Amino acid sequence: MNSPEIVTIDGPAGAGKSTLAREIAKRFGYLHLDSGAVYRAIGYACKLKGVNLDDEGEVLKVAGNLKVELKGSRVFLNGRDVTEAIRTPEGGILASKVARFREVREVVVNLLRKMAEGKKVVIDGRDAGSYIFPKADLKIYLTASPEERARRRFKELKEKGFNVSYEEVLKEVIERDESDRNRPFAPLTVPEGAVVIDTTGKSMEEVLEEVGKLIDP
Ligand code: DC
Repeated sequence: MNSPEIVTIDGPAGAGKSTLAREIAKRFGYLHLDSGAVYRAIGYACKLKGVNLDDEGEVLKVAGNLKVELKGSRVFLNGRDVTEAIRTPEGGILASKVARFREVREVVVNLLRKMAEGKKVVIDGRDAGSYIFPKADLKIYLTASPEERARRRFKELKEKGFNVSYEEVLKEVIERDESDRNRPFAPLTVPEGAVVIDTTGKSMEEVLEEVGKLIDP
């Protein structure tokens, strides 16, 4: 069997999607598309411009006029490296807000489909297998308990020097789950045909081994 052309990884915040996608890209020679990074870049640009995040028209204007590039694991916004600036707890909340809007999502989806043309890609997000690439050869839904996801995020943020408490991070994880699952357009769901992997109590190496068998049996 040939290895899949498109691998999608969906699931809630903190399930380990980006790490898994990065590792798959490295190990199996895929291009990694981090769809959350595009929403984060748009949210960040809106903040810089002082745009009201409840105003769909204004957010759409910003999204339509931006140049977002994903190069390896770096994210560029109009040519400026914003990788660290967007990966903050606030960046996640801003992203979740702009990601509620249907037309903003269309801009992002078109961009991601274009980036994937003619390439072998691994893409992580919330709607990668259900909406962006419904015909993907391999769909993975990665999940873990909210407490475990909050513990991982908390550790990651602490390592980066953020002054946050575990309780705050858990609250943010639960709030983001709510808003990602309950939005009317492209909500977070298990895509049809997806392999569900619960990563609670598993190391990334164990998960990668499981997924590796699906990519290269
Ligand atoms: O994966 P992340 O934490 O970088 O995502 C940030 C937010 O972007 C997340 O709360 C929901 C939104 N998002 C989305 O709606 N659809 C995607 N495909 C990826 C992210």
